[in-house]
Amino acid sequence: MPGSNENARLSTLIDEESLQARVRELGAQIREEYGDEPITCIGVLKGSFLFMADLVRAIGGPVRCEFLGGSRNHRGTRSTGILRITHDLKKSIEGQNCLLIEDIVDTGLTMEYLMRMLKVRNPTSIKIASLLDKPSNRKVEVDIDYVGFTIPDEFVVGYGLDLQDFYRNLPYIAVYHP
Ligand code: PRP
Repeated sequence: MPGSNENARLSTLIDEESLQARVRELGAQIREEYGDEPITCIGVLKGSFLFMADLVRAIGGPVRCEFLGGSRNHRGTRSTGILRITHDLKKSIEGQNCLLIEDIVDTGLTMEYLMRMLKVRNPTSIKIASLLDKPSNRKVEVDIDYVGFTIPDEFVVGYGLDLQDFYRNLPYIAVYHP
């Protein structure tokens, strides 16, 4: 469990002000592109919860909020891309414009799996917004429509991203130095 001296292991990568400014920018861009259309925002738990909370407010207008939970942390699945769905959508997305919201796209396996899973539910459209993009570690190609920041190959925490479930509540993104 991180104690106070653990903070020495953190160095700021994206500060709070830059994060918030970029999220506002993305929100305005998304709303502009969708016009007055309702957008079904689908947050991928747990990492996306802070980004999603800020992004939906920045998007404004008619927005629905749904959540998907997945886990690849159980034995044997981390590298295969098979995701255990721990929380499914509560409502149908048929005929809706959907925006899948992630904190980070790393190997791309999570997004590839979720996109395949959601496309068969017949949404009108489905796009991806990810706060962070770490392309250096990609295993499958993923087309990310809205990217907050492209980051180097570092282990990052904060603003939803965790180390053993801690650090999600940092209001900024930090590199964790083990
Ligand atoms: C993280 C992150 C993405 C996924 C990205 O989730 O939130 O969902 O990994 O990695 P990928 O591109 O290699 O698939 P994690 O499984 O750590 O769960 P969490 O969101 O609950 O922290």
